[in-house]
Parts: sequence; structure tokens; C-alpha cells
Amino acid sequence: KKLKTESLSMNKALKFVVHKTCNKARASTLTLPHGDVLTPVYMPVGTKGTIKGLTSQEMENLGCRLLLGNTYHLAYQPGGNYLEKVGGLHKFMNWKYNILTDSGGFQMVSLSKLCEISEEGVKFESPVDGSEMFLRPEDSVHNQNQIGADIMMALDDVVQTTTVGERMKIACERTVRWIDRNIQAHERKDVQNLYPIVQGGLDFDLRKYCLDELIKRDAPGYAIGGLAGGEDKQDFWKIVNYCTDHLPKDKPRYLMGVGYPDDLIVCSCLGVDQFDCVFSTRTARFGTAFTKYGFMRLKNADKEFDLKPIEEGCECPTCQRYSRSFLHNTIAKEETACHLISQHNLYFLLNLMKQFRQSILDDRMEEFVNEFFKNYFSHEK
Ligand code: GUN
Ligand code: ZN
Repeated sequence: KKLKTESLSMNKALKFVVHKTCNKARASTLTLPHGDVLTPVYMPVGTKGTIKGLTSQEMENLGCRLLLGNTYHLAYQPGGNYLEKVGGLHKFMNWKYNILTDSGGFQMVSLSKLCEISEEGVKFESPVDGSEMFLRPEDSVHNQNQIGADIMMALDDVVQTTTVGERMKIACERTVRWIDRNIQAHERKDVQNLYPIVQGGLDFDLRKYCLDELIKRDAPGYAIGGLAGGEDKQDFWKIVNYCTDHLPKDKPRYLMGVGYPDDLIVCSCLGVDQFDCVFSTRTARFGTAFTKYGFMRLKNADKEFDLKPIEEGCECPTCQRYSRSFLHNTIAKEETACHLISQHNLYFLLNLMKQFRQSILDDRMEEFVNEFFKNYFSHEK
């Protein structure tokens, strides 16, 4: 049966004001039920309701005002019913700012060996105990309503970026068919926002079809999905550029799963407003720190007696107190080192976006971007 195409407009749960632009880049304010978010913004990922190794208080101190949770993981633990009972994820983690939840769609790629996709939805087998979870668009949205996220993501059919041919077309068309089921299931449109996700891989015609269909639904914001999956940078940039050319100018745009410092800068220049990625905290746990001169591997032997902070001049709590030498010598033995490097990396990305935004407001974005790339690809440390 064909579901009615329902509009998501008349939205009171989101306001988006563009203050200034430079070419396609925008400096904006995204106002959500739990306060203002200055964009472009990097959103730290706390899969299960915690940012690995950091407390809500530390996230607040870093200036984070919007963080990510994942429906798939939260549905397993502590569970949607539980979260609804305790008043939602905000209360559960005592986080007074905004939360965005991904739908579980991406787990179709990351857990592809444990799932089965049909028109009805996705069936996952738990890697922990083998139990099954059936995630239909309705289930994903219901769970996200229970979680209480300020921004919820529609359940999409996600395949590996570099997939070509029929499977990519099926995924793109199914994502479009599912969007109305996502919208219909959404029970709290006045207090929670639902973003559709543009799919279509590296195929411009599929992207255009998906863009047209999703834009008709008049959503409060849009995401670009299905990228950062091993494709060439050139292809990646062209698809992002194509999508931001077609998405509405007066609505926020979220590029999913992208979080390298240089990608954040390039894609902000292309008109993206929101980013997320687990890379900053994952790589920190392996001893890699972000700096304005590129990645720094704290495990390298040359850091053994290096008493400088990770980055001279960095104002993060880690760099105020700890040296490269301390981190080098504790990384293998202490949880603390992973936590400290994660904190620095999150500060680095939050601050990078803040500086980029300010450069638009001050009419010096091009100089800022030139300076960033000059440093980033230099060999200084
Ligand atoms: N995270 C990174 N990419 C994607 C995507 O295409 N869809 C969803 N749901 N999550 C993502
Ligand atoms: Zn630092």
C-alpha cells in the first residue's frame, strides 16, 4: 500500500539562521530544543551514551553543544524502553545540550556479516549473544523517539560507497521508499527533528533522484550519506559538491562519517554544516594526536623525552598539563593517556570549526584555509 507523502515542515524544533557566507561556505546558528549550535560544527560520537573515556562534564567544558548517539547500540543497551522510562538519553547521561542519533542504517555496512536486508527492514544478529534485532524504519524512529534525540536520522539502506550497478540503485530507491515510513512513524515532530539521508554512492543520476525525492518532503535538515567508504578523494569531493549545490540553502546539511581535519575544512568550504566521525577518538586510543602540522604519533621513539605539549599553544586541558613524553610513556600502561589524547583531539576539531566559522564572519576565510593547508602539509612538528 502506498503511504501518503507527508511534509515535515511547520517545524518548531529547529531554527537555522545563516549569518554570513563566503562562496559556498556558511557561518550559521542551528537552534535546537537543547540550545544553540554554532555551525559548521564537528559532533563527537558517543555510541552508547558516553564519549569513550570522557564525561558529560568534560564534553561540556570542551564547548561541545551537540553530540552523537547510535540507535543500534542504544537499542541493545540500555534499550529504548529503559531510556524512555528514565526520561530519555539527556537525563540518562545528564547532558543538558543537544543529541543527534544515527538510525542504525550504517550498521548495515559496518556489521554487514551479521545482517540481512529486505523491503521490510534490517535483521541484525547480535555479535554478543546471537540474539536477533529487527530494525524497520518504524522501529528505528520509535527508538529514537524514546531516546529523545534533538535530531533523529531516517533509516536508510546503506551499501559500501564503491558499490556500482544494481545494488546501489536498489539501496538508493529503497532509501526513498523508506522515507515516508520513517516520517509516518515519527511521533514527536514538535520537539524532535528527523533528517532524511541522501544516498546514491558515486552516481550523480542516483544522487539527483534521491535529492529531488527527499527535498519534496520538506525536512528540517538533510544528511549526505554513503561516503567516506574508501572512494578516491576526487570522487568524494565531487559528490559532496553536487549535493550541496542541490540541497536547500536555508537548511542545515550534515555530512555523515567524515572527520579528518582536512576533510572538515574542504567540505565546510563546500557548504556542509555538520560532521561526525569516530576517527578522532579511535585514533587517540592508538596514540595518534591531531596537530596543525598533521598527525602526531605519540608512540614514536622521538617522543620519549619530548617535554613539549602535543601542540604548543593548544588551549585544551590536556596540553595545559601534560607533555608528549608523559603520553608516550603511559600510553601502553594507563587508560588516562587515551583519555587525554581523545580530549585533545576533540578539542582540536571543535576549535578548528570554531576558527573556520570566525574567519567567515571576519571576511578572511580564504586566508584561513590557505594557512591551514600550508601548515597541515608542512613537515614541522
Ligand atoms: N554514517 C556514515 N555514513 C552513513 C550513512 O550513509 N547512513 C547512516 N545512517 N549513517 C552513516
Ligand atoms: Zn591540546
